[in-house]
Amino acid sequence: MSELEQDAAVAAAIRMRGIDKSFNGVPVLKGVDLDIAPGEVHALAGGNGAGKSTLMKILQGVYTPDAGEVEVDGRPVRISSIADARAAGIGMVFQEFSLVPSLTVAQNVFLTTEPRGRGGLLDDRRAVRQTREVLAQMEVDVDPRARVGDLGTAYWQLTEIAKALAQDARVLIMDEPTASLARHETEALFALVERLKQRGISIVYISHRMDEVYRIADRITILRDGRRLLTSALSDVTPEQIVEGIVGQKIEGDLAYRARAAHDAAEPLLEVRGLCAGDRVRDVSFQIRAGEILGLAGLMGSGRTELARALFGVDRVTAGEIRMRGRVVDVSNPAKAVREGIVLVPEDRRDQGLVLDHSVRENLLLPLLDRVERRGLLSTRAGRELSTSLIERFQVKVAHPGRPVRLLSGGNQQKVVLAKWLGTEPDVLVLDEPTAGVDIGTKSEILETVRALADAGKAVLIISSEYPELLAVSDRVLVLRDGSVVRELQRSEIADEESLQLAVQGV
Ligand SMILES: Nc1ncnc2c1ncn2[C@@H]1O[C@H](COP(=O)(O)OP(=O)(O)OP(=O)(O)O)[C@@H](O)[C@H]1O
Ligand SMILES: [Mg+2]
Repeated sequence: MSELEQDAAVAAAIRMRGIDKSFNGVPVLKGVDLDIAPGEVHALAGGNGAGKSTLMKILQGVYTPDAGEVEVDGRPVRISSIADARAAGIGMVFQEFSLVPSLTVAQNVFLTTEPRGRGGLLDDRRAVRQTREVLAQMEVDVDPRARVGDLGTAYWQLTEIAKALAQDARVLIMDEPTASLARHETEALFALVERLKQRGISIVYISHRMDEVYRIADRITILRDGRRLLTSALSDVTPEQIVEGIVGQKIEGDLAYRARAAHDAAEPLLEVRGLCAGDRVRDVSFQIRAGEILGLAGLMGSGRTELARALFGVDRVTAGEIRMRGRVVDVSNPAKAVREGIVLVPEDRRDQGLVLDHSVRENLLLPLLDRVERRGLLSTRAGRELSTSLIERFQVKVAHPGRPVRLLSGGNQQKVVLAKWLGTEPDVLVLDEPTAGVDIGTKSEILETVRALADAGKAVLIISSEYPELLAVSDRVLVLRDGSVVRELQRSEIADEESLQLAVQGV
């Protein structure tokens, strides 16, 4: 045991020992130990399906462990419900939000512990006052009376944090908190984490982004296949060691751009002219040749996702045209878009990408049902073989293709979305944040797949908020602002992350 580990063991805010958990006889956690010191930010890392969320759901009372002990501040506790966890001072910011959009911030904060006035009625004024106090401590400027549904996702998260703090949480669990945040929102979250830390609050921070982990975490624990691989101060490990620990092997060079020759053809594969849709896509024109990867950069709200949706017929196009190999095509709904060879891998997989209660196989074959003979593809050998090969190709971690997608880890759900759309063998791929939530090993595989698809003559439009990722694959980058293309950057103009960032900010 290292000195740090010993220190943490003496004064642990949370101590988990020998935690085992199986689902339907499949072990997911195997004898996991975890110590969280008071006022530390403890990163929890590991590949998709390694067991991070499950371990934290045990702490949160969502699951009960099959074996093992949990101590809070040195006292053994049994956490068998979310109420138990709350009583023990443990709060969680879920990977999926648990707020009620139609209620106000204050109402959500006090949803489960409403301050009651005389006669047991919900005391709205007191809820607003107390919420305002918590938000002030967080140094966050939000009106407690605003309806949550009217606020952006960054505020949803802040509301979740305020809720935990209002319940006197001493330990906050954040499961991939920045996945849906813009850059400046991420900065604001980090500043908040710093302030919480100074107040002695411990934070368990789950993330696939190494740069974030190094910025805010004091220590890191890596899980691999349900076992704890190591716990270490971040000052004692290199990023390479962490990546190798997570993936189980070295990965190198995957984020370096490699020039690829676009396929020569008289006409561009995809051409968009004067496209307008909703109020976020304004007169957008661009071309992509076969074999080319076009990056789409812009701030949150610049219209990137809306442009992607318009190309796939999700949002109605009000003006302009879309051509494939010179021919005007009708992509007024997704089925027509798929038939023309255009697919969108959407940003929000839970809403648009997957039917969570259906099996992995059904989800994978969904877009194909139209193409192959409709009757019974699902039950045929061809259907089974196809889904199995997609599962292998994208290394989806699932016990059986017949299992519901809901039971897969976050990252593996994302792989199913990608596999599902690539299974249609499209000519044009529109990818909206394709590596959100996937682990570092899978990320490099996905980027490699994107390059291979372009090499095979497809046209790719890729949206990513992570500049290194965008730079790793894009042959050109369009910068969007207020729904319009404001710049087109050639490869030579974006040598590094800074130059891309400056272009996006309009400097
Ligand atoms: N309720 C459940 N029933 C069956 N299997 C489950 C259930 N919850 C999780 N699993 C399985 O347990 C394993 C660990 O999942 P978990 O969500 O903890 O992974 P994770 O480390 O959080 O991954 P990610 O980075 O993708 O979010 C996965 O193989 C997942 O499919
Ligand atoms: Mg998870």
